[in-house]
Amino acid sequence: MDSSGSDNFAARLAAVATETEALLERLLGDKALPGETVRPERLLAAMRHAALGGGKRLRPFLLVETAALFGARRDGALLAGAALECLHCYSLVHDDLPAMDDDDLRRGQPTVHKAFDDATAILAGDALLTLAFDIAARSEVHADANVRVALVTELARASGLGGMAGGQMLDLTAEGRFAEKRTLTENEIATLQAMKTGALIRFACRAGALLGKASDSSLSNVDRYGVAIGQAFQIADDLLDVEGDSATLGKATAKDAAAGKATLVSTLGIDGARARLDALIAEADSALASFGDKADILRATARFVAQRKN
Ligand code: IPE
Ligand code: IPE
Ligand code: MG
Ligand code: MG
Ligand code: MG
Repeated sequence: MDSSGSDNFAARLAAVATETEALLERLLGDKALPGETVRPERLLAAMRHAALGGGKRLRPFLLVETAALFGARRDGALLAGAALECLHCYSLVHDDLPAMDDDDLRRGQPTVHKAFDDATAILAGDALLTLAFDIAARSEVHADANVRVALVTELARASGLGGMAGGQMLDLTAEGRFAEKRTLTENEIATLQAMKTGALIRFACRAGALLGKASDSSLSNVDRYGVAIGQAFQIADDLLDVEGDSATLGKATAKDAAAGKATLVSTLGIDGARARLDALIAEADSALASFGDKADILRATARFVAQRKN
């Protein structure tokens, strides 16, 4: 990919980020939904703190670009992307809580429990999680209700016991909090990461294909791509925890080893983790082979995921 490919990538990511911000601003605005009579101000403020004004918006971007590959409507994909971003933001709010990773800084701002308090942060997470499903079910996401049901079901599976929340459980368990600490095998770490982080990224890619009513074989190629970049994303995150700059990242660094987190950096070392990233980019490319040039933006995204600095 030449430099024009990566310029194009940056512009397209920025466009989705701007559109997502505007949508979230509206979705978390002052207009009551049908049936809402009391909307506690403190809770809404905490939800807005969690969701607005930051983040790469990578998951909405993947959803929108995958949807574009299959000719789905951009406005519906952006709305589905906003739903996914609400869910992702909830996962960050809870991840940062003192009982979980105990972080004070997120997206360059105090974490929600620091800016508010633990109970408000828990509730803000809860309300963002449920808002995600409210949004995903709306008819503006897709005219075909069957597509919306598929989307909601997949989002639930990606987020729950066998997905993000389950992966977070494995992550905390691996620290040795609940029983004696045991060193995880490489496969066990890969599974944990595929759940805690990979599942939502994979969902983003699958959701775009579902909105575009992609064929089974296209869906399975997009799925393979999503699995590869989901894995790459957490390896890059773990490398950034060791080598990254806190100001650029907008969050603390050097926390994983101190907490005894199971990461591929801890088992493979820095060079081994980098080699794994290269292999995952190759795997992502291979999954996209059948789509030709139309998938160049997704190829650029795989490189971004592996090489990102924030
Ligand atoms: C951070 O996700 C949490 C992980 C899954 C590693 P991002 O790096 O996508 O965070 P934002 O949304 O850009 O802040
Ligand atoms: C987070 O992984 C995964 C989530 C489900 C939020 P991390 O705990 O490594 O994410 P950061 O480093 O706090 O963003
Ligand atoms: Mg964590
Ligand atoms: Mg964390
Ligand atoms: Mg991390």
